[in-house]
Amino acid sequence: MTTPPRIGITGATGNIGGRVAAALADLSPVALVRDPARAPAGFEVRQAEYRDHESSLHALRGIDTLLMVSAHETQRRREDHRRFVMAAAEAGVRHVVYTSFAGAALDATFTLARDHAYTEDAIRASGMAFTFLRDNLYADAAPHFVNAEGVIRGPAGSGRVAAVAQADVADVAAAALRNPAAHAGATYTLSGPEALTMAEVADRLTVALGREVRYVDETVEAAYAWRRAAYDAEQWQLDAWVSTYTAIAAGELAEVTGDVEGVTGHPARTLEQALTE
Ligand SMILES: NC(=O)c1ccc[n+]([C@@H]2O[C@H](COP(=O)([O-])OP(=O)(O)OC[C@H]3O[C@@H](n4cnc5c(N)ncnc54)[C@H](OP(=O)(O)O)[C@@H]3O)[C@@H](O)[C@H]2O)c1
Repeated sequence: MTTPPRIGITGATGNIGGRVAAALADLSPVALVRDPARAPAGFEVRQAEYRDHESSLHALRGIDTLLMVSAHETQRRREDHRRFVMAAAEAGVRHVVYTSFAGAALDATFTLARDHAYTEDAIRASGMAFTFLRDNLYADAAPHFVNAEGVIRGPAGSGRVAAVAQADVADVAAAALRNPAAHAGATYTLSGPEALTMAEVADRLTVALGREVRYVDETVEAAYAWRRAAYDAEQWQLDAWVSTYTAIAAGELAEVTGDVEGVTGHPARTLEQALTE
């Protein structure tokens, strides 16, 4: 009898990884976490921090199929990701499912999408099989764009965003991890069922949150100026925040795809569903 492939799930203390771990509980996946004390109950737990080659290598031994959830944004995320990818290849991982970003490219308008292009390249170069999940903005996070006055302010103009529910990203990841051979080499662009302007997002949030939300367009210069004044943030962080909106303005987050339904068999969740589930 052959041993079933062993699945490893990073980010298991977070939203996406936690959902995927729960969805695959019947396959006894290994939870790879930075802090075992916060690991979800019921799983074999191993400690791994992406930048730490030794702990990663140790944790990845015996893992065949790996969900690599992109790390929290830092200035050194690319290098941390590259180290973890190298550790995975060295440990003998055969297939990596990676949470990338819609339109990932080294010259993407959204600066953080460039990290994802870099990581995709590292995974391709590693020789491991892969499945890339290029997630649009998370619909679940939309309320975080609203300030205390009920305003979403940013230079998105009348551009559109096809935000995706995290539950759908997790469903696609779980499907790919269950049957990696069927998804080897695939790059899925994961979107919601429609592309909305920020004004439309504000209207939807007004109903969903039960309080008035407005979208206010602003210039790129104004976007930098108030964020610089309001937060003690480094330049890369300001660039990431502002370019979230300029990427929408440029149409780089507007693509609606059928990939969620194609992989999971169910339609992509709406913004309202993402907020209420
Ligand atoms: N598409 C979008 O709109 C969008 C928005 C925000 C973020 N993201 C990206 O999508 C990822 C997943 O989203 P999420 O909601 O599941 O995030 P989350 O709830 O913050 O979970 C992130 C997970 O990654 C782990 N992690 C972070 N940095 C790590 C590192 N350097 N080494 C090892 N593990 C690390 C965290 O561990 P700890 O619990 O120890 O921190 C946590 O388990 C985020 O990490 C971010 O890269 C995308």
